[in-house]
Amino acid sequence: MNRILIGAQWGDEGKGKIIDILAAKTDIIVRYQGGNNAGHTVKFGKKKYVLHLIPSGILHPKKQCVIGNGVVVDPEALLQEIRMLESQGVSARGRLFISEQAHLILPYHRTLDALREESLAKGGMIGTTKKGIGPCYADKMARMGLRVGDLRYPAYFRERLEFVLREKNQILKKIYNHPGFSFKEMLAFCEKYRKPLLTYTRDTALYLYQAAQKKKKMLFEGAQGTLLDVDHGTYPFVTSSNASVGGAIIGSGVSPTLIDEVMGVVKAYTTRVGEGPFPTEFSGRMMEMIRNKGEEFGSTTGRPRRCGWFDAVIARHAVRINGLSELAVMKLDVLSGLPEIKIATAYRYQGKLIKDYPHAHCALAGSQPVYETMPGWNEDITGVKRWKDFPAAARRYLKRLEDLLETPIKIVSVGSKREQTVFL
Ligand code: GDP
Ligand code: IMO
Ligand code: MG
Repeated sequence: MNRILIGAQWGDEGKGKIIDILAAKTDIIVRYQGGNNAGHTVKFGKKKYVLHLIPSGILHPKKQCVIGNGVVVDPEALLQEIRMLESQGVSARGRLFISEQAHLILPYHRTLDALREESLAKGGMIGTTKKGIGPCYADKMARMGLRVGDLRYPAYFRERLEFVLREKNQILKKIYNHPGFSFKEMLAFCEKYRKPLLTYTRDTALYLYQAAQKKKKMLFEGAQGTLLDVDHGTYPFVTSSNASVGGAIIGSGVSPTLIDEVMGVVKAYTTRVGEGPFPTEFSGRMMEMIRNKGEEFGSTTGRPRRCGWFDAVIARHAVRINGLSELAVMKLDVLSGLPEIKIATAYRYQGKLIKDYPHAHCALAGSQPVYETMPGWNEDITGVKRWKDFPAAARRYLKRLEDLLETPIKIVSVGSKREQTVFL
């Protein structure tokens, strides 16, 4: 069985935890988009890992992991992550494969990301992770990128780098008043990572095709979330890749006919990091309370996450765009102790009731949520193992989410550890 796992909100839904659990019954775990802007947390025993670029399945010693062609790879970040894993006794050797078609994030991408954000500080800032993700994907589309596999051909690589850098330096100097990068230093940077990177590189689409023929089970690990998708999210406050289901196909080279299930991961409430519209966002004490209780601080940048009520309008949009066949609901424990819990079931925009996600930035930013209120529960649910052990109010809340999203809930998470998971 092959499954795609997708964030159905604005990222940080708890994908890392679910990937780690599902990886146990999978052969190959595949990252297909994004880069080290992601931060996927896995906790077991007394250990905590935050993975940015390497699939979360790597923590299972016998599983194979793929970084697909749709991912953007910062060589420095990748090797740092490999070293971090090695220092904890986890080896990626012989079981991590990187697509030769994946694009390289080079230092000028990071610099451009930061400079652009700085220049937008007075208005229009996205609040990116400054990892160079946007500039790298922009180069890919503009056919000005360098790919991991290009490192195999030093003469060609040099020529391309020189050509690309000439344009980058013009932009850096003329628009951002930055001194630019010398060809020598950029080449030395790439040279330093050439060999270590190439030891992991192969034709991953062919590898996955052959694995599928041998009936190997594949799990596709989405990064970010549907509302951060460059096409289907809250544009322009999005990331620069397709975080929704299509990204898995394009970004891995695997045919959609091989996919059996698409699981959506949602938090029992909503969070977002960075700028952009967020209709159900809390304010004041409620924000502080949920942020602290849910430990809502970015896994990649440490920034405080914005928190709000569950938004069924955006989640329904994610259900439709991705064709979600099942749901994992995370962090239900964080809602314990609230006298009442709200769910946004629709929006009101300029006096009109809207039930379906409005694509226009102005419509979403100007929408007020229409809430349904449900009773909360006081019990600590962090030790619950079975459906029938949940307080009645928690069961009613989950049932309501299922009805509103017209998708069965398969997993409920009640804590960050592997064992704090209820399978329905
Ligand atoms: P991802 O990017 O979707 O993998 O999510 P992150 O790892 O960025 O953020 C999710 C955070 O919530 C991590 O710190 C997890 O350890 C934590 N977490 C996951 N599931 C639960 C849960 O059910 N309850 C609580 N309290 N924390 C959880
Ligand atoms: P995971 O995989 C939450 C957000 C950034 C910013 C926007 C664009 O851990 O869920 P970028 O650096 O990608 O150009 O930033 O996207 N963002 C995320 N938010 N979780 C993530 O990943 C994110 N990756 C990017 O905060 O608003
Ligand atoms: Mg995260």
